[in-house]
Formats: sequence, C-alpha cells, structure tokens
Amino acid sequence: MKLAILSRAPQAYSTKRLRAAAEQRGHTVKVLNTLRFAIDLTADEPDLQFRGRRLSDYDAILPRIGNSITYFGTAVVRQFEQMDVYTPNTANGIVNSRDKLRANQILSRHGIAMPATAFVRNRADVRPAIEQVGGAPVVIKLLEGTQGIGVILAPTVKVAEAIIETLHSTKQNVLIQSFVSESKGRDIRALVVGDRVVAAMRRVANGDEFRSNVHRGGTVEPVELDPAYEAAAVRSAQIMGLRVAGVDMLEGNDGPLVMEVNSSPGLQGIEEATKLDVAGAIIDYIGNQVAFPEIDVRQRLTVSTGYGVAELLVHTNADLVGKTIGESGLWDRDITVLTLHRGSSVIPNPRKGVLLESGDRLLCFGKLEEMRSMIPERRRRRPKVRKLPKQPLPED
Ligand SMILES: Nc1ncnc2c1ncn2[C@@H]1O[C@H](COP(=O)(O)OP(=O)(O)O)[C@@H](O)[C@H]1O
Ligand SMILES: [Mg+2]
Repeated sequence: MKLAILSRAPQAYSTKRLRAAAEQRGHTVKVLNTLRFAIDLTADEPDLQFRGRRLSDYDAILPRIGNSITYFGTAVVRQFEQMDVYTPNTANGIVNSRDKLRANQILSRHGIAMPATAFVRNRADVRPAIEQVGGAPVVIKLLEGTQGIGVILAPTVKVAEAIIETLHSTKQNVLIQSFVSESKGRDIRALVVGDRVVAAMRRVANGDEFRSNVHRGGTVEPVELDPAYEAAAVRSAQIMGLRVAGVDMLEGNDGPLVMEVNSSPGLQGIEEATKLDVAGAIIDYIGNQVAFPEIDVRQRLTVSTGYGVAELLVHTNADLVGKTIGESGLWDRDITVLTLHRGSSVIPNPRKGVLLESGDRLLCFGKLEEMRSMIPERRRRRPKVRKLPKQPLPED
C-alpha cells in the first residue's frame, strides 16, 4: 500500500518507528507535514493539494495530529475521508477525543465507567458541582490539556473554588472531577489497535506528584492487563471512532475508570516498557483494513427520502417477543435488521432464524413511517412525583 503519515515531526521517535515499520513490510510511505495541505473544494470532487501541487494517490493515511493544530489537521483528515482514503482514526474521532468533556459525554452514554465529573459555568454552581463529585480533594482539569499540564489537585473546597473562579475569569473551561485516591499516582495506558490491546503499561508518578504522565517525571512498567481493563479500553476506543488509540485508565476500587482516549499515542514509552513492536502492529492493521475506507453509514443510508435508521426495542413491541426475525413481519414492512443488541453482546446481520427476546434492541434500516409506531417513547430520566396539594381537592 501507499501510506501517508500526517505529522509535523518527522524526526520524532513515533514517526520514525512507524515509517520504518511500513518500509520493512514493503509499503511505500511518506511523512507529510499536516500544515502543508490545501483543501481544494473547487473541482467536481473533493481534492487535496500538498505543497502547492495535486496530491498523488494514497491508499491510507495515519493521522498524527498534534493538539495545537486540531482544527486544521482534522479538516485535512476529513478531506481524505471524502476522497475514500482509509484512515484508522476519523476526523470526528480525533475531535471528540481531544476535548475531555466531549469524550466523557460520549463515553458515558455507552456505560463506560469514568471518574465522577461535572461541568459548570456559573459561579453559583461551582460549589454544588464539587459536592456532587464527592467533595475535596477534587481534581480540576482544563478541557484540552495534555502531558499533565492543566490538571490540578485542589485539597479543599475553598481552594478549588478559587482556582475554578480564576480560570473562569480568564475564559478557561474546566472539568471538576472526583479524585480517585486509590489509584495513588498510578494509571494504566493501553494501546488499542483495531479491536485489541496490543500493549499496556502502568505509569507511576514521581515522588508525591499525583499525575503519572511521563512528562511529569512518571516511570513506566509493563503490565499484564485484567480482561475488564482490556474490554474497557477497546470499547472506549471503538466508541470514539478510533482504531489506533492510547486509552488512559485509573485503577479504581471497582475496576477501570477511563480518563481519556488519545488519538495520537506516543510509542516510545510503551515500546520501551514492553519491548513490543507497537508500530508494526499499527502498520499491519492499516494494511489489513485499507480496502475499507470509512463510510458515514447514517449519512449514506439516509439519502433515500423517507428511509432512515432507527433503534427498535423488542419489549415495547410485545408481539415480537418469542418470534424469529423471519416471522416478525419486519421484512414485509420494508425494515431490515442491521444488528441485534442483547445485553452487552451484538449480533451483526442477525439471521432469519434468530429468536427475539424481551430486552433485545434492533438497529434497523427502513421506511421511517413504518418504524415510527415502533420506536420507544423518549426515555424519562426519573419519574417526577407531583406534590399533593395541602387541601384535598374539592369534589364536584
Ligand atoms: N480523577 C483523577 N484521580 C486521580 N488521578 C488523576 C485523576 N485525573 C487525572 N489523574 C492523574 O493525572 C494524570 C493526567 O491526567 P489526564 O486527564 O490524563 O490529563 P493529560 O491529558 O494532561 O494527560 C493522569 O495520568 C493521572 O495520573
Ligand atoms: Mg493523560
């Protein structure tokens, strides 16, 4: 394949290792400076120029987009996606993972365990938010920090309030997060490639520092991951739309707590700690997937008027329980079942003979009008109990 590594640091350890791994495997590889692309929307088809000339054909890209150029970098990646060039990390995935709040919002929807987190803006809401996450000591984080910069441990509510107010006054948005003290200056970095963890390490903070980042003097050691940590890492990366990711987890009393998902994980620390060929695993994965450029399924499936995607709950359509997909009548109503979700397992392309159970969720493509009557009512957060009036209602 012909691979472009999008990076502004051709001499960095990770870039050099990725380039060497690709060459070793007989691929053609170029490191292209992300900032030298020009997005060209003048022609009939989406196009890209590089250093002022039309870009030659590539089979795949590997984006290594630094924090300081997220907007431009992800625009370039998105353009490659429009041109059907394979990328393991989508522009959406990179954007979503870069903002710690946005990542938390998306992950929490899918039941990934994370440290309790709150986000507020008004001064009056700061103290309740600190209490909400469990009180002091409390962790305060800038939304887009890296390398441990912008992560503060506030010992008391008063100090926390002062820090948050100061940051707010300089127009900085911050997360308020419970301090996971049992993790004691340690965390786990799992390197996810595709649907598995290819390498993992534990990072241990230096001295009385609570941040375990290598840039903050943390040391690293290889670690044999518990299956719960492996599953949390792979699911988090997948949910974020990242096929190459470094997932950071704290070791909570009840198992992994996902802190963040990095779309351009550094390779030096983890390769040195584990002696594993992580760069090679990344290149092998891209080589295998190159025939499958990213498709925005929802967008592609909804271009026919009147058709779309919806999730149907079997239990709200009681007549479906105990029937097979073949007997369900969905097909006759022009509805195709794409996947069946049962508990935490997913059956892709379920066959006609699959028996439907109460609790199953069906991701379907079909006529919106046919599906409308079958979609569940909007989930209520909690039942609201209306207060009874003090006086009994007058009888009439
Ligand atoms: N809620 C928390 N409880 C305990 N330690 C934390 C918490 N959040 C972060 N840390 C420590 O601080 C480090 C940096 O936090 P992180 O959110 O990963 O920011 P960065 O993007 O700067 O690496 C983590 O690796 C971890 O060691
Ligand atoms: Mg981190």
